[in-house]
Amino acid sequence: MDSHFRILLVDGDNANLLVMQQILDSAHEVEFAFTAREAAFKLATSSFDLIISGYDLPDMTLPDFFSSIRRITSPRELPIIVMSDDDDPAVEENSFRLGAQDFISKNSRIGVIERRIMRVLELYQCRADMEQRYQEQEEKIEKIRQNIVEAFASIIEGRDQLTGMHIQRTASYVSMVVQGLVRNGYYAGELEDEAVCEAIVQSAPLHDIGKIAVSDMILLKPGRLTHEEFEIMKQHARIGGRMIEETLKSIEKPLILRTAVDMATHHHEKWNGKGYPDGLRGEQIPLCARVMAIADVFDALVSKRCYKEAFSYDRSFEIIREESGQHFDPLIAEVFLSMKDEIIRMSESWALGENEDLCCLG
Ligand SMILES: [Fe+2]
Repeated sequence: MDSHFRILLVDGDNANLLVMQQILDSAHEVEFAFTAREAAFKLATSSFDLIISGYDLPDMTLPDFFSSIRRITSPRELPIIVMSDDDDPAVEENSFRLGAQDFISKNSRIGVIERRIMRVLELYQCRADMEQRYQEQEEKIEKIRQNIVEAFASIIEGRDQLTGMHIQRTASYVSMVVQGLVRNGYYAGELEDEAVCEAIVQSAPLHDIGKIAVSDMILLKPGRLTHEEFEIMKQHARIGGRMIEETLKSIEKPLILRTAVDMATHHHEKWNGKGYPDGLRGEQIPLCARVMAIADVFDALVSKRCYKEAFSYDRSFEIIREESGQHFDPLIAEVFLSMKDEIIRMSESWALGENEDLCCLG
């Protein structure tokens, strides 16, 4: 453990400062301030591991001094020890009430003063080390999460390149729609939380993950699916939700996990209740899934399939308008339609790198 610390001593009494200097100077780097204002200036221009302050300062009350310090730095980052030769218990109590991490009587033995100071410093060092380790763990988990998402996406792309591209395009539309909803103030109760918006966008690439479990015979069939085959294909929604739950539950943040599961499970629900797998209607359908539904269908409309040509942009937007309140959430459809030019630009940018000859089902 690093035992060399930077300490700011604040005391209007020169004799006190000299005594404390003798105690601390050999082991630590010590700076002095004779007034609270001088201390505040030093804090604003330099970093310290600890403040040791006298109880009575010449230019400021102790509560005001604490307030000025806390405007610069938080108690988590910088501990304060108050020292006084006043043995009135109210002085000690008042110091703790103001937020001091310790109170030391100047009448204590030097060894006791040294140990009390080191105890506070070591405690803070310990906490900083733990926070850093926690942060490193969080970063590692985030990396694992990203790797899993990328691995899933590449597995899908490996089996079915068109679905792989579909995942990327729909993710970009989802991001645009979420931004549009926020701009319009729609569903502000949910979307005013930036973490919710991020969770929706981050979950988008996983929405069709359940297609991994659909056989090649059905997934890659060059033509329309039979009723039975379509029933099997429909299972990808529920399977996808379960896969995400099973795979990511131990490492994913609860909000992202919930959003990704909801989006995968419910992106084929319809506003009018005629979708699958649960026939949810209206706002029973999670918002993330309602956003994905419109991105998903739009991408299928403007893409060429072996059983159909790509619809024109005008016809595709017309269908989105017709399906507002039927398939789609009317507010989301309104935002989508209002972003027609941006969406077309995004779609065309994807089309530049797309292999139109691939044949499979969306
Ligand atoms: Fe799907």
